[in-house]
Amino acid sequence: MGLASRHLLGLEGVSAEDLTEILDTSVIFREILERPIKKVPTLRGLTVLNLFYESSTRTRISFELAEKRLSADTINFSASTSSVSEGESLRDTVQNIEAMKIDMVVVRHKSAGTPYFLTQCLNSNIINAGDGAHEHPTQGLLDMFTIRQKYGSLKGLRVLLVGDIKHSRVARSNIWGLKTMGADVAICGPSTLLPYEAERFGVDVYTNLNEALEGVDVVNILRIQLERQQTGMFPSQREYTHLFGLSNERLKRLNKNFTIMHPGPINRGVEITSEIADSNSSVVLEQVTNGQAVRMAVLYLLSGKKSVTEENE
Ligand code: CP
Repeated sequence: MGLASRHLLGLEGVSAEDLTEILDTSVIFREILERPIKKVPTLRGLTVLNLFYESSTRTRISFELAEKRLSADTINFSASTSSVSEGESLRDTVQNIEAMKIDMVVVRHKSAGTPYFLTQCLNSNIINAGDGAHEHPTQGLLDMFTIRQKYGSLKGLRVLLVGDIKHSRVARSNIWGLKTMGADVAICGPSTLLPYEAERFGVDVYTNLNEALEGVDVVNILRIQLERQQTGMFPSQREYTHLFGLSNERLKRLNKNFTIMHPGPINRGVEITSEIADSNSSVVLEQVTNGQAVRMAVLYLLSGKKSVTEENE
C-alpha cells in the first residue's frame, strides 16, 4: 500500500508497481461512481487547494468533484481575482494559503516545473494538473486506465499519439506511463511539431499518418493548438487536416477492435471528424468519467489514509 513519492509531479520515473497500484485503486473508485450515492468519507478532515493558473474545464471540475466525492474540503483559487493581480509572487501566494491549514495542492501552471517548485516551499502533497509542455500525469493515468479497461492489459498494445507532440504535456505523460507498462508506443505529427528529444522517448517516430496507423490498436489524437499556426508551425489548418486529420478512410489501416481517444478540448473537423469523435470506437467521454476515478485514487493514495471506505483518523 502507498506510493514511493508523496507527490505526483509526472509519470517519468514512476515504477510499474506504483502505476499498477494507482490503476487498481481507480477500479474501486470507478465502481463507487456507479452508486446512487457517489460519496465516501475517505478524506474527511483534509483540505485540498485547487490552484489553477491556466484555463481548464475537464481537469479542474474532475479534481473538484473527486475531492468532494472523497469528502475533502476544497478551495478553488483563481489567479485573476487574487492578489496575484497586484503582483504577489507564487511563493508568497501559496505559503499564505497553506498557512490556513491546507493538506494537498492540485496545481496547473503554464511554466514547466511549477509543481516541483511547490514541493520546495510547501509541506502539502503536490499533484501536477498540467505544467507547461512538461507533464499532465493524471491525464496519462486516465488514458491508461481507459485502455486497460477495454483490453484488460497495456502490455504489447500498439498506441499511437498524433498531433502536436512537441508542446503536449499529455503526450509526454502518456509516453512515460505506457512504456513503463509495456505498451508499444509511436508518435506522429508534422516535423515542426515533433520534439527535438523524440529519440530519448524510445518511441517510433512518424511524419506520415498513413504509415503510422498500420497495425495500431489505440490512436490518441491530440488537440492541434491553433495558436501555433501564427508561429508558422504548419502552413494552414486545411493542410494539417489533409495530412494529419483522422478520417474514415484512414481508420481502415488500424487493427480490428481499435480505439479512438482524445484528451479534449476537441477541434472538430480539424484533427478529427465529428463522425469519428462520436462513433462507437471513440472513448472520449469514458476518458472523462474515468478521470474522476483516477483522481480519487491519486488523492487517496497520496493522502496516506489507510482505507477507501472508512475514515481513518
Ligand atoms: N484534458 C484536459 O486537460 O482538459 P482541460 O484543459 O479542459 O483540463
